[in-house]
Amino acid sequence: MLDILKQVHTEALAKLKTAEGEQELETLRQEIFGKNGRLTAILRTMGQLSAEERAEIGRLVNAAKQELEALLGDRLALIRAAARERLFAAEALDVTEPGLVPLPAGALHPMTQTYRTIRDTLVGMGFSMFDGPEIELDDYNFTLLNLPKDHPARDMQDTFYIDENVVLRTHTSPLEARALQTLKPPFRLIMPGRVFRVDEVDASHSPVFMQMEGFVVDKNLNMANLKGTLDSFIHALFGEDVKTRLRPSYFPFTEPSAELDMSCTICGGTGCRVCKGTGWIELLGCGMTNPHELENCGLDPKEWSAFAFGLGVDRMTSLKYGITDIRLEYENDARFLRQFQ
Ligand code: DAH
Repeated sequence: MLDILKQVHTEALAKLKTAEGEQELETLRQEIFGKNGRLTAILRTMGQLSAEERAEIGRLVNAAKQELEALLGDRLALIRAAARERLFAAEALDVTEPGLVPLPAGALHPMTQTYRTIRDTLVGMGFSMFDGPEIELDDYNFTLLNLPKDHPARDMQDTFYIDENVVLRTHTSPLEARALQTLKPPFRLIMPGRVFRVDEVDASHSPVFMQMEGFVVDKNLNMANLKGTLDSFIHALFGEDVKTRLRPSYFPFTEPSAELDMSCTICGGTGCRVCKGTGWIELLGCGMTNPHELENCGLDPKEWSAFAFGLGVDRMTSLKYGITDIRLEYENDARFLRQFQ
């Protein structure tokens, strides 16, 4: 019996050293300790032994059992560790590597591109941003801008009224009044935003559109300062070659008022369908801020002067990219927008 025990022990040790994988190890465990295992068989026949032999053999069997169990445990831990290492190696991921499929890059909306060109030029000249509400008091949208309740020029803009005193702002000009009331002059501001007018949607109208107001308050400003400011971003947007001119116009909040025209970018000024044969294209409204507006907002017009301009970001975009239907700029059809990537 001692020989059998030795043999089982030696063989088990040898198999243990080479066992690969949990399955193989489990089979080996069954072979030794299982119901029909070899060690179990030895224990089962111990009843036939004498008392002294039983004590002696029993001690040896137990020692072998303990040793083999410990070794099985060690081997199992080793196998599991190796398996984990293999898994880690196989799953290793370099997160800095470029992906296999290139991600589709988004594009800036053409209006955003237009707006940013203008903004960046003016910010480079010391302008800052100023913002305000889209739902606006009648006072700011009209009255403070020299458009009292009965003023005929109110009809220039078809207004969404919320109640008698509250409107959806029809232009970004109310921000001028808000700036005058809250900021200490001198200042130069860009004030972009959504504006609203009662209009049916068609190729050139939208009830919601995007404007940008420029507003400069300082001492001794004149029309040349205004023209120089306008030229700076018109050239940045349409190129150095375009010519500009100021044409007299009327706005209640400016005196004198003007519209800025640009030489036609299609025909270069000789006259074509786009400029209706005139060689010029209307860009925006502007002027020296009316002293009434400064006074209404608490500034002394004898001490301070100001100029302003207001432009349609959509219109500038149409002219820049030759877009003939304004709806394309507001409907956000990805097929259209992708062209501006
Ligand atoms: N607010 C005018 C509009 O929406 C545009 C405008 C004209 C703004 C002249 C100005 C300006 O600041 O000086 O029609």
